[in-house]
Amino acid sequence: MTRLAGKTALITGAARGIGLAFAQAYVAEGARVAIADINIDAARAAAKDIGESAIAAPLDVTDQASIDACVATVDSEFGGIDILINNAALFEAAELVDITRASYDRLFAVNVQGTLFMMQAVAKSMIARGQGGKIINMASQAGRRGEALVAVYCATKAAVISLTQSAGLNLIRHGINVNAIAPGVVDGDHWVGVDAYFARLEGLKPGEKKKQVGAAVPFGRMGTAEDLTGMAVFLATPDADYIVAQTYNVDGGNWMS
Ligand SMILES: NC(=O)c1ccc[n+]([C@@H]2O[C@H](COP(=O)([O-])OP(=O)(O)OC[C@H]3O[C@@H](n4cnc5c(N)ncnc54)[C@H](O)[C@@H]3O)[C@@H](O)[C@H]2O)c1
Repeated sequence: MTRLAGKTALITGAARGIGLAFAQAYVAEGARVAIADINIDAARAAAKDIGESAIAAPLDVTDQASIDACVATVDSEFGGIDILINNAALFEAAELVDITRASYDRLFAVNVQGTLFMMQAVAKSMIARGQGGKIINMASQAGRRGEALVAVYCATKAAVISLTQSAGLNLIRHGINVNAIAPGVVDGDHWVGVDAYFARLEGLKPGEKKKQVGAAVPFGRMGTAEDLTGMAVFLATPDADYIVAQTYNVDGGNWMS
């Protein structure tokens, strides 16, 4: 299918994992994609693998000059941006008494400030172009409720859900739909790091936390990045034009709201 034929998308943190799966799915649907990532070597390799419909763009979402340069480059390469996916994020875990201000600042800088100021920069470009657009933010089940060892990450993802609501209400008058996806537990490189945190903090064997969380999903297993691509494509199509400021759980039944 080519539900995104002629569309252009900027996807942050798309050098690997879920963002990369989104880039591949969007290209399969006929879009051109910019793989924007702080890991530019991996972004270039990913774009090369995908082929001529993908470009790589350096981006540090914590740096306003980098955001402005990235959006300007993608805008001029593609002649406008139709879709933004705010996917870049960091995860850290700690006992509450061990949380550092440095960790708090790092996670809020990427997950919250990065999401807000990428939305702002791309929305300015979309408004100037006058053709509307779609913005999809990556939230998490971690934004739906707190977790004992994950206070800061959970707070950042709750903030992403809130920003999605406010930005959605603010930007729909320009024909820009802002919505979010809240995945549950998605296997991949990210979970290697998450599993290592829990192994240390809960005294588990490597791989044990992954087994536990997978077994606890009502669907019966952890998610894959490909489990999320259907929602990411749908939210970027005209079928989602009347959907505003929502966060969709795609989590195998972990959370209901
Ligand atoms: N994997 C899961 O279980 C899971 C669950 C719920 C939500 N999510 C969310 O989905 C999204 C993607 O997750 P993932 O598992 O693919 O993560 P990942 O860690 O595999 O990928 C994150 C990407 O973001 C990039 N990045 C980090 N800091 C950046 C910065 N400052 N500027 C630009 N790029 C930066 C990294 O280089 C990496 O390519 C994230 O928002 C994550 O919070 C993931």
